[in-house]
Amino acid sequence: MKSRALLGLMADGQVHSGESLASSLGISRTAVWKQVKRAMEEGYEIETLRGKGYRLLTVVDLLDQGAIVEDLPAEVRSRVELTVLDEVDSTNAEIVRRRPVTGAGRVPVCIADCQTAGRGRRGRVWQSPRGENLYLSLGLTFRGGFAMLDGLSLVLGVAAAEALEAAGVESVGLKWPNDLFVGRGKVAGILVELQGELEEGVVQVVAGIGLNVHMKRSEGVDQAWESLAVAAPDHSWRRNLLSSSLIHSLVTAADQFAEEGFEAFRERWQSRDIFAGMELSATQGELAGTGRGIDETGNYLLETGAGVVSVRAGEISLRIQR
Ligand code: BTN
Repeated sequence: MKSRALLGLMADGQVHSGESLASSLGISRTAVWKQVKRAMEEGYEIETLRGKGYRLLTVVDLLDQGAIVEDLPAEVRSRVELTVLDEVDSTNAEIVRRRPVTGAGRVPVCIADCQTAGRGRRGRVWQSPRGENLYLSLGLTFRGGFAMLDGLSLVLGVAAAEALEAAGVESVGLKWPNDLFVGRGKVAGILVELQGELEEGVVQVVAGIGLNVHMKRSEGVDQAWESLAVAAPDHSWRRNLLSSSLIHSLVTAADQFAEEGFEAFRERWQSRDIFAGMELSATQGELAGTGRGIDETGNYLLETGAGVVSVRAGEISLRIQR
């Protein structure tokens, strides 16, 4: 984002004269106008008031690496290596590239203002418009082999839901295995990708979360979605605070999962289950039944005519029958 300094000055939504902007930025008024034009080309809505100046109409919520780090508790701060990027293909891909240069025992974290090739589960594209949402990934290492990954994706869903609640979001629901719901729409999704096995039983995982923060419209999303700004318009959502809350909660939950396993999270997941008691059907095959929560490994339990059937994450997805 070339006009970052300009947008920072205009973020208060007040009218700023060309002259005052020029003097704050140390550039000419013509150069200010060029930056205003460029910001408009980048998608920011700026009103030009004849003889008065410019007013930024788009909500600008800039990412600030220093502010995010400062907000982390000391014990988490010392463990993470945070990179905030203006643009990237995918923050998950960036974590894979950064692993080799990350200090031993540290957790690489990457946040980007926009993604050009954001990816979702099941090969879907994750719409990642500039400045509106949060795209955050972290690299985690676990002992326990590939088998623990199903449980891990549910654990990260619980951690993300708790982080949003700590940041002021009311009642975050979880749609098995790990979509976050507010109201009737999906507000965030989590993609857990296996990076590889370091040595026998030690797996490296990349976990990415996409959280809709300010987004008010989107043409490309093919499922019912929600954003924090739409769900709670009176709250002034700040991506820096949400980032710190998420990093804190995700790193802490990963540690607890490594030490105590899935059991420490089962009830925390279950209490947010949006499928509980609902009539569900599998999007693949014939399976249908009533949602009955998860078992001790995170498989979803469906009460069918033929008894309770357990469904493994990654094999089948479930939806509410209409
Ligand atoms: C889903 O399909 O629900 C999962 C979406 C995960 C999107 C996030 S955005 C940050 C990270 N980088 C990506 O390319 N994907 C994840």
